[in-house]
Amino acid sequence: MSTEPLIPFNRPYATGREHAYIDEAIAAAHLSADGRFSGRARSWLESRTGADAALLVHSATGALEIAALVAGLGPGDEVIMPSYTFVSTANAVVLRGATPVFVDIRPDTLNLDESLVEDAIGPRTRAIMPVHYAGVACDIERLDAIAKHHGLWLIEDAAQGVMASAGERALGTFGQLGALSFHETKNVTCGEGGALLVNDPALVRAAEMARDKGTNRLDLTRGLADHYTWLGPGSSYAMSEISAAFLWAQLESAEEITADRLAVWEAYHEGFAGAEARGRLRRPVIPAGVRHNAHMYYLLAEDRAARDTMIVRLADQGVHSVFHYVPLHDSPAGLHYGRSHGNLAVTTEMAGRLLRLPMWAGMSAEQVDAVVAAVMRVLARGDGSPVALRER
Ligand SMILES: Cc1ncc(COP(=O)(O)O)c(C=O)c1O
Repeated sequence: MSTEPLIPFNRPYATGREHAYIDEAIAAAHLSADGRFSGRARSWLESRTGADAALLVHSATGALEIAALVAGLGPGDEVIMPSYTFVSTANAVVLRGATPVFVDIRPDTLNLDESLVEDAIGPRTRAIMPVHYAGVACDIERLDAIAKHHGLWLIEDAAQGVMASAGERALGTFGQLGALSFHETKNVTCGEGGALLVNDPALVRAAEMARDKGTNRLDLTRGLADHYTWLGPGSSYAMSEISAAFLWAQLESAEEITADRLAVWEAYHEGFAGAEARGRLRRPVIPAGVRHNAHMYYLLAEDRAARDTMIVRLADQGVHSVFHYVPLHDSPAGLHYGRSHGNLAVTTEMAGRLLRLPMWAGMSAEQVDAVVAAVMRVLARGDGSPVALRER
């Protein structure tokens, strides 16, 4: 068994300009938030997505927390969300004293099942927080219509959705608020980072203040005030100029990075077509009208045992694959702070079957072929002897 995988799960992409831009930020003697690179990144995100404002923050986690603040969530409020998501979706709600209500996902896209949402809406429901899993849009238009019909907030967790869209609209711009992530594992990165997309001009000031410790410090930065003061609840969510300089290098190449990842995604997809036709595994489903960003390539094994065996057998061949979210609804915190609507059977099943394969911009055709071949060898072996992950 190799300890260092020959083919790692992720390799953060670098354009080569990151150092120069960070040097430029140092020379400009502005390293905290909202310097010139932050300004460029913000404008780029706004014009690219069409959001009224794209506030640079230290993480998508932070963006979701600001969203919960701006929406005024509090004790007694309920927020509908998938259980098959990252902890940050639920934490943002729980930190405000509100309750996540977990609803099952669709078996095709693994996104919130919009057909179950109306039934979960009750007198305490204040918001719907869907996730665009793997950068593949959920049925956001339907969810938008449901939210509008019931007078609810729509807050999109588009952490994985940079450069992806539904129809002509960027993910994160359907709800009043949307969160993007630039974490190391995301398509466009600055190590740790994110953006809050604000899609209602009336909310921009509140979001900017929440991001800036509950103050109007940006008025001072913009020369609109000679001092700033505390106006409401907030925290320190802004992105540093050092991260923004790194991010700017990546945003400039966002098209190329996405195209590169899409080529890897397509190669995997073609490589596994035969195995899917033989019923040995299932490939991701991309609904019509959805433009995804190749954030991840996953497979669904026959069952949890087959998935776990696959991870170990791939590691034996030098391929690092991983499972993904552990459902929140039956986690210790999920049981304590949230509640489930329905039995979430699809969530439990899919979380057990899902396997993420190596994926990064710049991955070679030979590497993709090697991963496909390694998966095929495991399937061909079909030894029927599940290997527990904890053995290793
Ligand atoms: C769906 C989802 N939401 C939120 C996050 C949190 O992103 P960040 O690491 O930028 O806080 C992630 C990170 O993987 C995610 O997958």
